[in-house]
Amino acid sequence: MLLQDVLFSQGFGTRRVCCGLVQQGLVALSGPGMAAPQPGQPLPVDDANFRFDPEGVTLHVQGQPWPYHAQAYLMLHKPAGYECSQKPGAWPSIYTLLPAPLRARPSGAAAGVQAIGRLDQDTTGLLILSDDGKFIHRLSSPRHHVPKVYHVTCKYPVQAQQVERLLAGVVLDDSPQPVRAAACRVPDPARPEHLELTLTEGKYHQVKRMVAAVSNRVEALHRAQIGSVALPSDLLPGEWRWLAPAEVQALRG
Ligand code: URA
Repeated sequence: MLLQDVLFSQGFGTRRVCCGLVQQGLVALSGPGMAAPQPGQPLPVDDANFRFDPEGVTLHVQGQPWPYHAQAYLMLHKPAGYECSQKPGAWPSIYTLLPAPLRARPSGAAAGVQAIGRLDQDTTGLLILSDDGKFIHRLSSPRHHVPKVYHVTCKYPVQAQQVERLLAGVVLDDSPQPVRAAACRVPDPARPEHLELTLTEGKYHQVKRMVAAVSNRVEALHRAQIGSVALPSDLLPGEWRWLAPAEVQALRG
């Protein structure tokens, strides 16, 4: 691929902007086949038509390293007080937590990565984002039954009967069939307000409405896991990281 096309594919701007970055000496490369004049330093490249295989290469743009990814798959620890919309109303967008190239990379109709399944403004936890349309479709389609694990803090201690009703199914006004939790338990008897709930679909405010339907109330909601991918404890609220290839594979199913 030509260097200008690689930069464009990663979201560094229009082709004209990408050519400008290279011509101004702001781009260097490291990785397989990139022998720099000083060992350990990236190789400066000032030809926008420099041709190379970008797999495994790290771009250094204005001194910032950017590992090449043909497609973007990442996780974000959503903090409270952010909306999942690109054009939010009252709260800042989760997309402002991502570096500019991830928001600008060319991907089908919409620019940049998209969150797969939204969380409410006050919900925290795991969001997966990608620019791979098929991957987004698979993870968001209710037909694929990808389980999502929520940690729910309820207003009142959760009764065994409430757990049973959530497992048996509750009626929500936008669903002809009762909606059931795939799994539901109070993991720690010493914290009876804390519920762990697994859903395989993602209706609007689903956890909050299901908990309300059994006469309790959600005080705090956190998504801990999607499929086999759990939010790691060292990824702090507001932080993101690339998914490992094995995590992408596991989510593809
Ligand atoms: N269910 C909800 O009620 N809110 C969320 O943010 C996610 C699931």
